[in-house]
Amino acid sequence: MKLVKLLANLGYGSRKEVQRLIRSGAVTDADGNVLGENDVPPHDRILFRGEPLDPPAPLVIMLNKPDGYTCSAEDPGSTIYDLLPPRFAQRNPGLNPIGRLDKDTTGLLLMTDDGKLLHKIIHPKSNCLKIYHASLDRPLEGHEGELFASGTLVLNSETRPLLPAQFQALGEKEALVTLHEGRYHQVRRMFAAAGNHVLGLKRISIGGLKLPDDLEEGDWRALEPEELASVFC
Ligand code: URA
Repeated sequence: MKLVKLLANLGYGSRKEVQRLIRSGAVTDADGNVLGENDVPPHDRILFRGEPLDPPAPLVIMLNKPDGYTCSAEDPGSTIYDLLPPRFAQRNPGLNPIGRLDKDTTGLLLMTDDGKLLHKIIHPKSNCLKIYHASLDRPLEGHEGELFASGTLVLNSETRPLLPAQFQALGEKEALVTLHEGRYHQVRRMFAAAGNHVLGLKRISIGGLKLPDDLEEGDWRALEPEELASVFC
């Protein structure tokens, strides 16, 4: 790909702006040689104002979503896109969340610009299990595991029963729930059906990929290839 198109697709500016930036000497190789429009060194040897270029498409990132951020760029208020470098909003193809989290749900959120991969991960056939840590308003009653695993639980205003979900109590008011599907507000509505109320909800894993301990709330990073592979385990 030509340098102008590459940088424009990564959101560094319009084609015209990028052309101007290249002519001004803002783009160099790793040895400090100024690049021209027709130079195309390997991606990892290109620097923009001395900084490595953002990763190219296809890109998959993980984000530790904080409370209070919505997953849609169109929503008013804070969105997950505010947590990424501003130029990411201009990337082409753009990044989309792989399955949304509610505004007040925290934890592991994947985003990608690869539409095929996105659909593969959310497709029920892939069965990428999602594990949530729920903090509850009232003590568990002991019947939750059986109810969630029954395969007969029908949520309010739905007709199709939920797939069986796994439940593990962690304390009087804390539990892990493993889902095989992703319906609207599913975990919150499951606990509502069990007579409880979710106060805090955090997604801690997708497939075999766990939210890393060293990824602080609000931080993100690109997924390593083996991390992406683990999503399908
Ligand atoms: N279940 C919910 O209720 N909310 C989420 O964000 C994810 C799963």
